[in-house]
Amino acid sequence: MTYKILLTPGDGIGPEVIEQTGRVLGWFAQNRNFAFETESAPIGGIAYETLGTPEPDSTIEKAKAADAVLFGAVGGPKWDKLPFHQKPERGLLRLRKDLELFANLRPALCFDALKDASSLKPEIVAGLDILIVRELTGGVYFGEPKETTTLPDGQKRAVDTQVYTTSEIERIARVAFELARLRGNKVASAEKSNVMVTGVLWREVVTKVHAEEFPDVQLSHVLADNCAMQLVRNPKQYDVIVTDNLFGDVLSDEAAQLTGSIGMLPSASLGAKDPASGKQAALYEPIHGSAPDIAGQGLANPIACILSFAMCLRYSFGRVEDATLLERAVDKVLSEGFRTADIMQPGMTKLGTAAMTDRVLMALDALKA
Ligand code: IPM
Ligand code: MG
Repeated sequence: MTYKILLTPGDGIGPEVIEQTGRVLGWFAQNRNFAFETESAPIGGIAYETLGTPEPDSTIEKAKAADAVLFGAVGGPKWDKLPFHQKPERGLLRLRKDLELFANLRPALCFDALKDASSLKPEIVAGLDILIVRELTGGVYFGEPKETTTLPDGQKRAVDTQVYTTSEIERIARVAFELARLRGNKVASAEKSNVMVTGVLWREVVTKVHAEEFPDVQLSHVLADNCAMQLVRNPKQYDVIVTDNLFGDVLSDEAAQLTGSIGMLPSASLGAKDPASGKQAALYEPIHGSAPDIAGQGLANPIACILSFAMCLRYSFGRVEDATLLERAVDKVLSEGFRTADIMQPGMTKLGTAAMTDRVLMALDALKA
């Protein structure tokens, strides 16, 4: 069985971290009998430059045909002034929408070696292991109308629409409950049911799915603003947090910082499993974004992207042992004192993107037996 992996490096540090992660893929091919083919396709700003659109049909088609997509990052100041529909981010959003990647898994795990790298006190973050399950194809990101109009008095009026249906909430709730069963068996559902009708529906539907299908899992409801506060007060009270597209975007950046650096956090975006073929659309992506300020300098932390590939091994290819091996290799490198600039601490050894990846490959060699 040869897997097809589509690489979409994109912009900023995307190409650098994807290139280095490609070396990790190569290691698994050589050492773990992992047969795959890769192909690269443009997305985001680079696609706009070369093809005139940030969301080329050819890339979307290739992504649909692939077993998994490994995505770098999109965006940068160069494209800030483009009209909305030509912005690099459209490429990512269209991939999510067209592949129906409704479930975004964002684990925030604090490696022991990094507990002092967080801006929070080490005792608050040591041993942290939470999973944010973010709804990814609905809500205010995609709701219609989404438009800017000019009013009779000449001023402008912009509208985004927050919208959720029962079935959209049910399916993301199920993903969260199922994953909770494999972990700490707790789900916190975050919304704003005190001010938003979508929040009221969200709470009702999550409560119903829980009662009917997952009564063994512990469920709590939390207002999203309070959740943001609780995440910095006592993040370890959480196991799985399920939330909508926009709150998930915000809460996951916050959770990332708990772990020391946003350069550490991987993510998986999954579609529904086809009952007949078992095929499931999937995209794996570091959550850090394009970081234009350090792009092209070989400084980026490749770990979020490498750990995204570990998620790919686990969720798309069922290679749980390989995924664990890769996560242990990252852990080993960190405990040996190697750091990229974003997680640098006194007394540690500072490395660039490629040298950090060298260390991960060495750790894989050391651990593979
Ligand atoms: C993320 C990013 C994206 C989002 C951007 C790049 C469109 O912030 O994946 O969290 O807002 O979803
Ligand atoms: Mg974000």
